Amino acid sequence: MPHADSVYLPGYIQTKTEFWDHVHLQLQALLEDQRYWVSNLSNAASLIYSSLSAFSKYFGDSERAVNWAGFYVRGDLFPRPRICKESPLPDDKLLLGPFCGKPACQFIPVAPGKERGVCAAAYLKGETLLVPDVEAYPGHIACDGETKSEIVCPLLLEHEGSTMVLGVLDLDCLALNGFDEEDKAGLEKIAKLVVNSSDW
Ligand code: SME
Repeated sequence: MPHADSVYLPGYIQTKTEFWDHVHLQLQALLEDQRYWVSNLSNAASLIYSSLSAFSKYFGDSERAVNWAGFYVRGDLFPRPRICKESPLPDDKLLLGPFCGKPACQFIPVAPGKERGVCAAAYLKGETLLVPDVEAYPGHIACDGETKSEIVCPLLLEHEGSTMVLGVLDLDCLALNGFDEEDKAGLEKIAKLVVNSSDW
């Protein structure tokens, strides 16, 4: 099957649970035999964004559309420059990773006391945050003035008996209350799959 067909949404998919199970299955197939996180997160962002655009019952390309889907990753996990002059990789910032949507802010400070925004809060808490109205969230970073609601899910890696937070998966919606508990459950499973399918 051509890779692009993985965003095709069969007609029987009506509920959010069916939707997220389907996306999870498609993503499993896409990430097979590939462990580079840049590549895996790129296909994950594209699959999530394109599948949500096709899910017209809840999102689609209407005024309820998801206008951004992507990742912010801890700076020190980025590949080191090997050809040009090496620059230090920051461990106190999340850097913009693979995404779909309009251009977004390049980095997010996460050093305790200097953190700002929803992504930093989800990263530091290690918990998914549902924000029904971004304007009511103190410190929200507005990358796109059209965004009304947001969900941010941490990327959690179980490693040598402890849990590391590698970054976050962030989705923005043009409508208030765009996301709910079913989206949270679905995204958390997707985040786990992406983390465990990649080398960090
Ligand atoms: N709104 C986020 C910043 C990232 S953009 O939404 C893509 C925040 O407050 O952390």
